Amino acid sequence: MAEGKTATLTIDGKTWELPILSPTSGPDVIDIRKLYAEAGVFTYDPGFTSTAACDSTITFIDGEKGVLTHRGYPIGELAAQSHFLEVCYLLLYGALPSPRELEDFETIITRHTMLNEQIHYFFRGFRRDSHPMATMVGVVGAISAFYHDSTDVNDPEQREIAAHRLIAKMPTIAAMAYKYALGQPFVYPKNDLSYAANFLHMCFAVPAEPYHVNPVMARAMDRIFMLHADHEQNASTSTVRLASSSGSNPFACIAAGIACLWGPAHGGANQACLEMLREIGTVDRIPEYIARAKDKSDPFRLMGFGHRVYKNFDPRATVMKESADEVLDLLGEHDNETLKVAKELERIALQDDYFIEKKLFPNVDFYSGIILEAMGFPTSMFTPIFAVARTVGWISQWKEQLADPQLKIGRPRQLYLGEDVRDYVPIDKR
Ligand code: CMC
Repeated sequence: MAEGKTATLTIDGKTWELPILSPTSGPDVIDIRKLYAEAGVFTYDPGFTSTAACDSTITFIDGEKGVLTHRGYPIGELAAQSHFLEVCYLLLYGALPSPRELEDFETIITRHTMLNEQIHYFFRGFRRDSHPMATMVGVVGAISAFYHDSTDVNDPEQREIAAHRLIAKMPTIAAMAYKYALGQPFVYPKNDLSYAANFLHMCFAVPAEPYHVNPVMARAMDRIFMLHADHEQNASTSTVRLASSSGSNPFACIAAGIACLWGPAHGGANQACLEMLREIGTVDRIPEYIARAKDKSDPFRLMGFGHRVYKNFDPRATVMKESADEVLDLLGEHDNETLKVAKELERIALQDDYFIEKKLFPNVDFYSGIILEAMGFPTSMFTPIFAVARTVGWISQWKEQLADPQLKIGRPRQLYLGEDVRDYVPIDKR
C-alpha cells in the first residue's frame, strides 16, 4: 500500500515524516498511527471529515464524480442487471457468485427467515403506536438472547451464521413491527418467494385471503434494497464498527447501527423528505421552501438534498428516479402530485446558485419515499426498510473488521476545553 511517499509535519522546528498510503482509488491517506506516540499530539477532526478510520475492500465512492461501486462493480450496472441477494453475496464474499454458489446462498438465507416464536412476546411489550424503528432497535438487540450459538465473534463459523441470520431475519422483524402497529396478525415468511417479494408479502398479506405480489412492485422493492445495501463508512456503519471493536456480539452491534440510522440526517431522511414534499403540497409553494432552505436563521433544510461525500449527483438517486416513474406508471398515478413537486423542486434547486455553489444534489432519499408511499407503506416504515437493506452492508463491514489482524478497540481522543484542575469547594462554601 505504501509507496515511499511521506508527508512532513513540523512542530516548533522539529519534523516528523508521516507515511502516505495510496488506495486503489481515491485520495492518498496520511498514516498518523504513530503520531501521538512519537510527536505527542492528536489530530482534530470532528465529524471525521478528513479521517479514514479503517481500510476496506468493499465499497468505493468518488463523491466528486458521483461514482459508487461495490467490490468494483458500478451501482448502476448492479441495479440494472443484478438482484439484492446476489449483491449481498458480492458484498459479503467479494466476488459475484457462480450459479451454484448463488443457489446455495439463497437457500441458506431463505432457511433462516423465521424468528424464534418467543420473540413475538417482545413485540407485544411495545405500545401499538411505537415507531417501528424503536421496535427494531429493541428486538434486534434482544435476539442476541436467542441465538447463543452465533454470538462468539472469535469463531468464524459463528460469525458466518450470525451474518446469514441477520440478513434473513431483518425483513421478518421489520414486517412484524409494521403488522404490530396495524394490529394485524404477523405473517410468517414464505420460502418460495424472492427476498423482496417475501418482504412485501409479510407486510401486506392477511391470513383471511390470498395475496399475490405484483412482480413490478417486487422488482422496485428489490432495487430499493440494492441501492441501500452498503455505503462505505457512513455514520451507522461506523457505529457498527465502533460497537464491534470492543468484541460485542453481532446482534447488539447491528442494533447500534439501527439506532444511528434512525436520525433524520441519515436513514430518517427518507421519511423527513416525503413529509416535506407533502407539506410543500403544490409546485407554486416551492420558492417559499427554497428560500427557507437558504435562510441561515431558519433551521429548515431541503431533505433528500446534500451529502457528506457526494458533491455531484448521488448515482443511487438517478436509478431511484427511474423506479419512481416505473412504479407510478404501473399504478396509473401519472399525475401524482408529490412526484410533480419533487421533480420541480429538483429542477429549481439545481438551477439555484446556493445549491450550485454548495454542490447540493438530490440524494438516494429524495425519490425513495415516493415509491414506498405508492407501494402502500406509511412514512414510518421508510427507515426500517432502509435498515433491512443496509444490514448486509453493516454485516460485511463487521466481518471485514473482525478478520483484520490489526483490529483495535475504537477510542477517539479529544480536544479538551473544560476547566483545568481545581479544588473541590464544600457545599456550605459555594
Ligand atoms: N438544504 C439546505 N442547505 C444545506 C443542505 C440542505 N439539504 N445540506 C447542506 N446544506 C448547507 C449547509 O447549511 C452548509 O452551509 P454553510 O456552509 O453555509 O454552513 C453547507 O451546505 C454544508 O453542509 P454541512 O451540514 O456542513 O454538510 P455535511 O456534509 O455535514 O452534511 C448532510 C451532509 C447529508 C447531513 C446534509 O446535506 C443534510 O442535512 N441533508 C439533508 C438530510 C438528508 O437528506 N440526509 C440524507 C443523506 S443520504 C442518505 C444517508 O446517508 O443516510
